[in-house]
Amino acid sequence: MLPVTARAHANIALIKYWGKVPGPGNLPAVGSLSLTLDCFYSQTTIQASEADRFILNSEVQSGASSRRVFEFLDPIRKPGERLEVVSKNCVPTASGLASSASGFAALSVAANAFFKLGLSPRGLSELARTGSGSAARSIFPGLARMHPEGYAEPVQAPSFDLNLLVVHCSDSKKHRDSRTAMNHTAETSPYYAAWVLTHPEDLTAALRALKENQFEALGQAMEYSTLKMHASMMAAKPGIWYFEPLSLSVLNCLRELKAEGVKAYFTMDAGPHVKILCQDQDVPVLLKRLNQIPGVIEILQARPGPGAMIL
Ligand code: PMV
Repeated sequence: MLPVTARAHANIALIKYWGKVPGPGNLPAVGSLSLTLDCFYSQTTIQASEADRFILNSEVQSGASSRRVFEFLDPIRKPGERLEVVSKNCVPTASGLASSASGFAALSVAANAFFKLGLSPRGLSELARTGSGSAARSIFPGLARMHPEGYAEPVQAPSFDLNLLVVHCSDSKKHRDSRTAMNHTAETSPYYAAWVLTHPEDLTAALRALKENQFEALGQAMEYSTLKMHASMMAAKPGIWYFEPLSLSVLNCLRELKAEGVKAYFTMDAGPHVKILCQDQDVPVLLKRLNQIPGVIEILQARPGPGAMIL
């Protein structure tokens, strides 16, 4: 079989996914809504080999990351078939974005072509989900809605433009990964049930805002979903938080800017970086003010990006 190479872009959730349905299949406990970005992607090649090998950014991987790739491929390859998977994360220094979404979306698209699975976009999204919940959304360009049933689908773009500024707040890599953190939240946080129960109304509000071209309502729904997700994990036992002092300085700066009439909204994931949803007109003032915060490492400007593709 000929080698196949695919590329998929990272996505950031506007309405968050946090928590899984117990049992197999890696099904999310809640839906989500995301934006696939133009500036960060994973590129992955699959080819036949004499032994299983996973090479990431030119380094042969052993242990958990390699296991995760081959456990993902096991159900779709023939018994005894050995593969080499070579993956590269093209990530600007400032992004600080996790690569599991783009990585498993690229691997799914490459596997679909390599094994001639003939999957539909929905099937590809379901396959990607088995590797990483957020990967199901990176199959699609721009906005994507993830259903709790385990697949994502594209959402029509609004009439307003969308920018996402990624404020790089720390170089430290010592963060708890999202998979173990969300399971710990589900198992120990008294706020987790409230998070799951109230999640659909946030998703509905965001989808309505997109349909009615209400940028501010979209931003408000995003901030609300973000803070509820982080509150649920902070109330776990022991609590988990990803905020660094600098993350809070960025949030405080945004609060000031909002009082001055700038329309900018934050989100954060399983790391200290702050991502800011804004429109073209406000990018210059945001860059100016955020760059004045002592300690900000770099700010990256992302826009909606393409869906996953074969190269
Ligand atoms: O699928 P994972 O393990 O990358 O989890 C994603 C969790 C968040 O990034 C915090 C939220 C989200 O919906 O992407």
